[in-house]
Amino acid sequence: MNFCITGAFGYSGSYLSRIILGEGHNVKTLTNNPALGHPLKKSIQSLKFEFNHPDKMVDFIKGSDTFINNYWVRFNHKKFNHHEAVENSFMLIDSARKAGVERFIQISITNPSLESNLEYFKGKAEIEEYLINSGLSYCILRPTVLFGREDVLINNISWFIRNFPAMGVFGDGSYKIQPVYVEDLARLSFEKSFDTENEILNAVGAETYTYKELIRLIMKTINQEKPIVNLNPTIGFYLGWIVSFLKKDVTITKPEIEGLMSGLLAVDTEPPCPTSFSEWIMENKETLGKKYVNELNKRNY
Ligand SMILES: NC(=O)c1ccc[n+]([C@@H]2O[C@H](COP(=O)([O-])OP(=O)(O)OC[C@H]3O[C@@H](n4cnc5c(N)ncnc54)[C@H](OP(=O)(O)O)[C@@H]3O)[C@@H](O)[C@H]2O)c1
Repeated sequence: MNFCITGAFGYSGSYLSRIILGEGHNVKTLTNNPALGHPLKKSIQSLKFEFNHPDKMVDFIKGSDTFINNYWVRFNHKKFNHHEAVENSFMLIDSARKAGVERFIQISITNPSLESNLEYFKGKAEIEEYLINSGLSYCILRPTVLFGREDVLINNISWFIRNFPAMGVFGDGSYKIQPVYVEDLARLSFEKSFDTENEILNAVGAETYTYKELIRLIMKTINQEKPIVNLNPTIGFYLGWIVSFLKKDVTITKPEIEGLMSGLLAVDTEPPCPTSFSEWIMENKETLGKKYVNELNKRNY
């Protein structure tokens, strides 16, 4: 089978492309970085996103049976923003349809809503709605926070724990979080490519924690047990902002804190993704959080 995916050299995309190639199928990719020196580069034909010339993307996608879309931006920034990412995602859906793709897999987020005041969750809901009305056969997968070796969020929480005498949680830390292993999400996207029915599925992991429990678990596992302090979220944001300033990065945003504290990163449906977060961090405890991962550097900004 022929796959076209976004971001094959990125975080979840590289897991996905390894699975597709490993199962004997073909992959091509749309990416910001076709020239990236990546181990998979030789096996994957790539084209830079051409949002100003969608016809080029249509030509490139032609011949693909399935399109898997993980394209998105984490926050608003002077160089990128959610509004543009929504428009670009509509264009990817249109391009796939015009290219004759049979199945579209969309990576979304848990609890998206057209009524949300959080652009991340509203934008993802708008993309879902657009796909549902596109006439394409679809599967929408809604993951929570991903964990994996190349991860930013869980890694940087661990980095904070390692490098500060105490760890803050926003508010009382009682809101839930249900991390999912990046490879499980990739495997699910691959498997759902072979179905034909339309489906929306929460792609969540098997373990749910309160945020405070998650912090405590990471501390215990990496042998860094320290006091956990309940922080006013605004103060928590500004402490994160100081680190962002020093690291020339965006460590955490106000909407991310709001989404987390509203419990949007957990659901109460059956978890299809089996990898245990606690076992995974145990296996990776030596490296987890040893180095800060800079989101903006990763994107060459
Ligand atoms: N990471 C998480 O914890 C998490 C949690 C919930 C949901 N998700 C969803 O899962 C999907 C994959 O996440 P991921 O972390 O694996 O993403 P990723 O690899 O960082 O990026 C996925 C795609 O989006 C593009 N992209 C990302 N940030 C961009 C930016 N600032 N400007 C322009 N393009 C950008 C990437 O570009 P390149 O082609 O240059 O790589 C790639 O094509 C996303 O749709 C995300 O919303 C992720």
